[in-house]
Amino acid sequence: MFGLFTKKPKPATLLTVRMTHAEQALQIKRGATLLDAVLQQGVMVPFNCRVGACKTCQIRVLEGQPKSLIEREYVFGVEEIKQNYYLACQTRVETDMLIEWHTMSTNSTTQKLPAQLYSIEAKTARIFRISLRLSQAATWRAGQFAKLLPAGFAIEPRCYSMVNEAQQGDLMSFDITYYPGAAVSTWLVDTKNLGKTIQIEAPFGDFGQQIYDPIRQETPLLCIAGGSGLGSISGIIRQALQAKNSPQRPIVLVVGAREQSELYEIAELRAMAAEAHSALHLEVVLDREPNESNWRGRRGYIAEHLSDILQELKQNHARFVGDTQSWQALLCGPPPLVDSALHCLQEMGMPRAQIGFDKYEQSVTNLVSN
Ligand SMILES: Cc1cc2nc3c(=O)[nH]c(=O)nc-3n(C[C@H](O)[C@H](O)[C@H](O)COP(=O)(O)OP(=O)(O)OC[C@H]3O[C@@H](n4cnc5c(N)ncnc54)[C@H](O)[C@@H]3O)c2cc1C
Ligand code: FES
Repeated sequence: MFGLFTKKPKPATLLTVRMTHAEQALQIKRGATLLDAVLQQGVMVPFNCRVGACKTCQIRVLEGQPKSLIEREYVFGVEEIKQNYYLACQTRVETDMLIEWHTMSTNSTTQKLPAQLYSIEAKTARIFRISLRLSQAATWRAGQFAKLLPAGFAIEPRCYSMVNEAQQGDLMSFDITYYPGAAVSTWLVDTKNLGKTIQIEAPFGDFGQQIYDPIRQETPLLCIAGGSGLGSISGIIRQALQAKNSPQRPIVLVVGAREQSELYEIAELRAMAAEAHSALHLEVVLDREPNESNWRGRRGYIAEHLSDILQELKQNHARFVGDTQSWQALLCGPPPLVDSALHCLQEMGMPRAQIGFDKYEQSVTNLVSN
């Protein structure tokens, strides 16, 4: 009698997921997270943070209807949503699907190769610019990132963003924040390791490409950077300003640091901003500069100054016109800085889809290696 009411577990429905870059079709349980399921079956696909922050795992769904675990408006623009872009790490499989792995289709140049630690230059007490000499030429842009792992290390590779760019070049540079005792940053900034081998996989991501958005070349771009994030942001800006035939898009760069001793590249950036007809405007905000110092600039956190900075710009510079809500923004650096700037911009009414960011999160150690 009671047996009539005993529920037998339903067998999980298996759905078929096909990928444009692979012949084999995968059988995935309904309700599984797409990225986890694909990796569990031993298929190598690009991913990094697994929490929806880096966009490395973006896919385009060509057939079928998955469920997104996040509001896609926070990550993708209107056009991308229309074209069915999703983040595999934030997507649940609900039907059979045909998908295209974005990085695999648009970024077929990603390669894994050995490199040598070629140079190390201290920019501040904690930030070092390093260059790696690649064993063969590659193409990448400033703002994309690489996975780095010194030869012989049995840990997850660490992500670092390129500060330079090259077409078939072999010297790739990064700004590294040094955490004493931490595995990879300690190795990278140690001159004893010059000439030693490091494995590199690159390039990943498309941070910074918003600067070239063809329909927004008249629209101002707000860049916010802190810590070693300044390296990739200033690399992106430099490339855009130097690009031949490219209109000079108005750019305001707001740099945040604790104190003057933590600033770098500022003299070069000031010189660029001071050039006649420069499209660049620079602001620096320090939050722990000693009161008695010679600093006459802004003090506090960037978020506290943002509204004033934008107001003053519009009043004093004709090129920074228009409603801030229509601007685009690029944020790069430590997570607290990126999060507070993101929050502040959204409070000011800037749609999430117009904001690109690269959070320099600590690498998660339980990632599946790919
Ligand atoms: C897409 C992406 C791009 C990145 N680009 C850069 C870059 O260009 N330059 C850069 O310096 N970093 C960058 N990072 C962050 C970098 O990957 C991590 O900081 C990484 O964990 C450092 O590795 P590690 O072996 O030195 O330290 P780990 O072994 O990972 O950590 C050891 C200890 O160091 C400290 N620590 C390490 N990283 C951080 C952190 N981010 N915040 C606070 N404390 C930390 C903590 O005390 C931690 O317990 C990026 C991260 C991502 C996801
Ligand atoms: S956004 Fe999915 S792996 Fe980072």
